[in-house]
Amino acid sequence: MRVVTVLGTRPEIIKLSPIIRSISTRESATSILIHTNQHYDRELDAIFFEELNLQAPDFDLGIGTHPHGRQVGLMLAAIEEILMAHRPDVVVVQGDTNSTFAGALAAAKLHIPVAHVEAGLRSFDMKMPEEVNRVMTDHISTFRFAPTPRAAGHLHAEGITEGVYVVGNTVVDALCQHLEVASDAGKNGPWADGREYVLATLHRDSNTDSPARLNELLTALEQAHEVSGLDVVLPAHPRVIHRLERFGLLHRARSLSGVRILEPMGYLEFLVALKHARVVLTDSGGVQEEACILGVPCVTLRTSTERQETVEVGANVLAPTGPEAVAAIRTALTVQEHDWPNPFGQGDAGERIVDLLVQELDLAD
Ligand code: UD1
Ligand code: UDP
Repeated sequence: MRVVTVLGTRPEIIKLSPIIRSISTRESATSILIHTNQHYDRELDAIFFEELNLQAPDFDLGIGTHPHGRQVGLMLAAIEEILMAHRPDVVVVQGDTNSTFAGALAAAKLHIPVAHVEAGLRSFDMKMPEEVNRVMTDHISTFRFAPTPRAAGHLHAEGITEGVYVVGNTVVDALCQHLEVASDAGKNGPWADGREYVLATLHRDSNTDSPARLNELLTALEQAHEVSGLDVVLPAHPRVIHRLERFGLLHRARSLSGVRILEPMGYLEFLVALKHARVVLTDSGGVQEEACILGVPCVTLRTSTERQETVEVGANVLAPTGPEAVAAIRTALTVQEHDWPNPFGQGDAGERIVDLLVQELDLAD
């Protein structure tokens, strides 16, 4: 079985790692890795290949940052060329980024089966670039690996009934495979002095691209410190730093009382930082899942979530505005029981996905 995996961003590297490793252990399978380089800074890219012990990409497309249409177009042309030359049995993509959609579209146009990992998530907000990518990718895929029954239900509601498999989310596999080694990684994280803290991450365009919104969120970070008495630790995605610079807000951000803005963390350091956090404030998809799995209360700085399961089990609340986020943090700090169930599976999604691909493509392992 010749598998091409297309990835481009931090969460794709993390969530595809169990699948890439599983393919590499199978004698009759060949893994070809295409990296679009949508993310290219070491702390969003190379560090994950090192920490997750992944094979180097066979192709680095060097696409980088562009407006959406141009970025997807450049990826599409470059991926198509490689697929025409290598004619894989299947192309695997993950999640909802521009790299995901470009990989899926290039393959579908060449009638190569597409396997979409983390299929069926829906925020029902088509203003999110990710929602467009998810819907389009699901509809042109052959194999849709839904993490939960709810995600499969979204596909069914859109008339997609064939090629849907509920397998769990590979985020659990990655977390289980690395938490133990992560615990030894680094003695200098925000947990090192034994003090409790609020962990925060921000990168969604709806939160970073308007000066008024970003300013509101800076105020919320400072107020989160005031109401909790805890430090707020923000390992900042470069998008946030660039927008703060552009809007003349970087100095204010760096001067906020009780708020520490750090470089983005590697995966191992981030897992430990999350595990020890008293509460997490985020707009990330993966972090909502990981917080739920690790028993850390999550406040999500958005109007909607495609991870509704986390809200249902009581692990996550949506806080669309700064004041609502501060109130939600205050409430989360009073919650003592964090033993909600993990809705994302047992950590075997990667193996199950590769088994299913072997079986469905009718190729002996
Ligand atoms: C992208 C995905 C988003 C995903 C996120 C994971 C899309 C539309 N968005 O968002 O779904 O949740 O990755 O982190 O695919 N930049 C750097 N260095 C880098 C990469 C980006 O400085 O290595 C800066 C650039 O200024 C760029 C900005 O970050 O303008 C945004 O990068 P981009 O890849 O367009 O979107 P993300 O916000 O990273
Ligand atoms: N993450 C990380 N370092 C950080 C912040 C996040 O390694 O400083 C990891 C986190 O563990 C999760 C993933 O990055 O697995 C989430 O990526 P991101 O928030 O960029 O994207 P999203 O999940 O929203 O698509």
